[in-house]
Amino acid sequence: MPNRPEILMTPGPTPVPPAVLIAQSEPLVYHRGPGFGALLTEVIDGIRWQANASGDVAVYTSSGTGGMEGSVANIVSAGDKVLVVSVGYFGDRYKTICERFGLDVTFLGYNWGQVAKPEDVAKALDDNPGIKAVFIQHSETSTGVCNDIEPIARVVKERDRLFVVDAISSVGAVELDVDGWGIDVCVGGSQKALGATPGVAFITISEKAWEAHRNSNAPRFYFDWTAYKDAAERKNPESPWTPAISVLQGFAAAIRMAREEGLDNILARHRLLSKMVKAGVRGIDLPLFGENLERSLIVTAVKVPDGISDEAIVAKLRSRFGIVTGPGQGPLKGKIFRIGHLGWVDPLDVLRFFGALEVVLAELGYPLKLGSGVAAAQEVLLQP
Ligand SMILES: Cc1ncc(COP(=O)(O)O)c(C=O)c1O
Repeated sequence: MPNRPEILMTPGPTPVPPAVLIAQSEPLVYHRGPGFGALLTEVIDGIRWQANASGDVAVYTSSGTGGMEGSVANIVSAGDKVLVVSVGYFGDRYKTICERFGLDVTFLGYNWGQVAKPEDVAKALDDNPGIKAVFIQHSETSTGVCNDIEPIARVVKERDRLFVVDAISSVGAVELDVDGWGIDVCVGGSQKALGATPGVAFITISEKAWEAHRNSNAPRFYFDWTAYKDAAERKNPESPWTPAISVLQGFAAAIRMAREEGLDNILARHRLLSKMVKAGVRGIDLPLFGENLERSLIVTAVKVPDGISDEAIVAKLRSRFGIVTGPGQGPLKGKIFRIGHLGWVDPLDVLRFFGALEVVLAELGYPLKLGSGVAAAQEVLLQP
């Protein structure tokens, strides 16, 4: 149908609620005045609430990768030893960023689809004395798996190293306890579970991370935490540079919506959606991809059936129904496709999705009983 918006079932950006779009189209609040001060304060408080983080928060006008870069540039000096734990595409990105900053990188890489194990992190730290910081993803969006951060944090804290977590696709959908788990630096983004448009990344900063910041001399300017702290502590809190004001107006509206729904309800909704999607995939007899699936709550990776390409499934879902999903990335190209179910998504979206997916698969020659995926997802809704 012409002019119908695309239906985003991608790992991000995610569907943006009208209230957020409306807030974003409001006249701009000038960024050197009290209106912006109130806006920035609301956003920072919302981030602290979502991530259970009591420390400082730097709010960047950038995509998530800017947040990743800021999480490296502010705590290291060239030649520092770091450990990068990677279970996929975005973990590999941390390795590249750390290498660009001239760091001595120990790389703990897993096969894509696996999750990181605390005992491996402990061994890597014990075998490589002098490692200053550990970098890892919470949810690795390229495979759908979610690392169990709490026990890994324990191992890192026991050894008194800095712990940096990319929670860009998990914050606001999966339990995240920055203070409780001891995450020193946690990176998030506006365009995933939090339901705003792309353009804002943020970083939570612990006292230990500030100490590292003061002793670090990596080159930085735009992403320098000190600049953000100084600006945020003015009488009217500000950003050091001109911020993406409209995106922040939308982001604040998204935070208001989240507060209305409540964190427990948000987490429960994402658990339900994930259960429905996984049941639907099993209902059409396709194999799920990845380890520890009960933790993979926001992206479901599905192995493609023999003889059918991931690109064909993704392209047909889009051309026939306007539904956007993700193909496999890197070594998983051609092997999986990815269904995003995070942010402003509800059970009806999942039922609609399986109705469409079944037609697409049938047209591509995959033998299935129409309705089997929808029914399996519906069954989840009937469970107490
Ligand atoms: C886990 C993770 N890290 C980093 C990024 C990079 O974010 P961006 O594309 O906004 O730069 C993404 C985006 O998909 C992500 O899912």
